[in-house]
Amino acid sequence: MSNDIALGVDIGGTGIKAAPVSLKTGAFIEDRYRIPTPQPSTPDAIARTVAKVIAKFNPSTQVPIGVAFPGVVQHGIVKTAANVDDQWIGTDLRAIIRDYAGHDVHVLNDADAAGYGEYKFGAAHGQGGSILLTTLGTGIGTAMIVDGTLVPNLELGHIMIDGHDAEDRAAESARDRYGYDWDQWIDELQKYYSEMERLLWPDLIIVGGGISKSHHMFLPKLRLRAPIVPAELLNGAGIVGAAAAAAAAVKRERDQAKAAVKSARAAQKRAAKAAAKES
Ligand code: BGC
Repeated sequence: MSNDIALGVDIGGTGIKAAPVSLKTGAFIEDRYRIPTPQPSTPDAIARTVAKVIAKFNPSTQVPIGVAFPGVVQHGIVKTAANVDDQWIGTDLRAIIRDYAGHDVHVLNDADAAGYGEYKFGAAHGQGGSILLTTLGTGIGTAMIVDGTLVPNLELGHIMIDGHDAEDRAAESARDRYGYDWDQWIDELQKYYSEMERLLWPDLIIVGGGISKSHHMFLPKLRLRAPIVPAELLNGAGIVGAAAAAAAAVKRERDQAKAAVKSARAAQKRAAKAAAKES
């Protein structure tokens, strides 16, 4: 793999997907590889599967790898696990994937990854203002990008609507759970997005997740103030965003290491000068 490529991995409620991504265009360099999410979705079972999807592309140690997780990930540690096994809570995500895959990785929330991907290469590319990205899948993921800055770990899929956790009724999985037809599901979506508008006043709303392929079935029926558009990267936004975020993190870490070496050298020089003066 060349310098301009990073590998993105997206852990979902039903599938674990990966693809190498061009950091210039955001396009997949090879076909996406998917393995169904193991059940129970314990840390060991998922980490083993993540290692398999990574191994499929045989990346060198130089290739940045980003892993998107369907829960809050704060400083590498999983803090919530609404749609995967509870054993995840408190797990060091970066460390467990590194152990199984034998490769260092960068980790982040899946909706944050999708939001970053859409901002770098998709429907939010270069856009200022407040952009709300939502993913409709097993749960509802949310990310907000304000003038290019992502606010991490927004958990707005869990606001209460009609006394219920919103994602229970408005995620894509609710269609099966409650046997909703399109119109019934659209009613739930309308309530959800109206509430988002009432609270956040976004300039643009982007909808990702597997169902965004069928956006023509539901987006035109929603009555909202802000434009609501499908994710341009569709269900690939998480993979692309994870890859791009990993590349950015690797660069940041390298720059910090270089700056630390530079300041250590400068300190050494100053100390040598002071010692020479004294002698
Ligand atoms: C989780 C979020 C996640 C979303 C989409 C929600 O249940 O709490 O962290 O982004 O599902 O996977």
